Amino acid sequence: MDTAGNAGADVLTALRTATAPLHDDLETRLDLLDPDLDVAAYAYVLSVFAAYYAPLEAQIYALPGLDDWVPALERRRKLPLLERDLHHLRPQRGVTTTVPPDLVPRLDTPLAALGCLYVLEGATLGGRVIARHLDARLGIDARNGGAFHTAYGPEAGRMWRSMQDALRSADRGASARAIIIGAAYATFAGFASWCALSLPSAAGKPLTQVTEFPASL
Ligand code: HEM
Repeated sequence: MDTAGNAGADVLTALRTATAPLHDDLETRLDLLDPDLDVAAYAYVLSVFAAYYAPLEAQIYALPGLDDWVPALERRRKLPLLERDLHHLRPQRGVTTTVPPDLVPRLDTPLAALGCLYVLEGATLGGRVIARHLDARLGIDARNGGAFHTAYGPEAGRMWRSMQDALRSADRGASARAIIIGAAYATFAGFASWCALSLPSAAGKPLTQVTEFPASL
């Protein structure tokens, strides 16, 4: 298998390489490290997250037997944290449209769910950086609107390592890897497209390659 320079590479390296441009696109679009971020803009972004995570988690947590593949699966739900934050922040304005179904990847196998979970769990890494900014800039912490970005607290490293182990264990052959990376890519691409639709600050920003899946994994 040609892995675009990743032949024989660890699945985590292949995932990072395949999705890095989409990650950078999202990071720019969300603009959560903006020095002028205010509570209203932050709360609106959380509503954009919640709208997209809902159809993903609905599929992930309906998959029978996924907890045999992913340790502490139940603890990895993010929608309750987003809802708790939105409850605290009581935004005047939240996203009102629903996510177009073609932007939501189909997660009907454990491998596809694992690819999606790579994205959702990886977001907790950047979350730590964002949490520091929220605290310093807006006085927001885990108790008053920052639960999503402080997910797992001091156990974040352990939770990420166990997710990485699950991905490595599932990476058994080229077709398994293609499903994992395809789902991760589709999750990132769908989310970036959803942000382009729903974030007013991103309205003028062109989409960078979010529709085409790389020919080689
Ligand atoms: C303003 C927004 C964001 C910032 C500043 C940010 C920042 C970061 C940083 C600093 C890392 C590396 C952390 C480390 O290696 O310890 C990271 C990793 C990651 N982030 Fe983000 N991130 C943002 C948004 C997102 C979003 C929205 C998602 C997905 C929903 C996401 C998914 C990931 C993934 C999957 C990784 C792991 C990459 C890998 O090493 O394989 N990030 N992010």
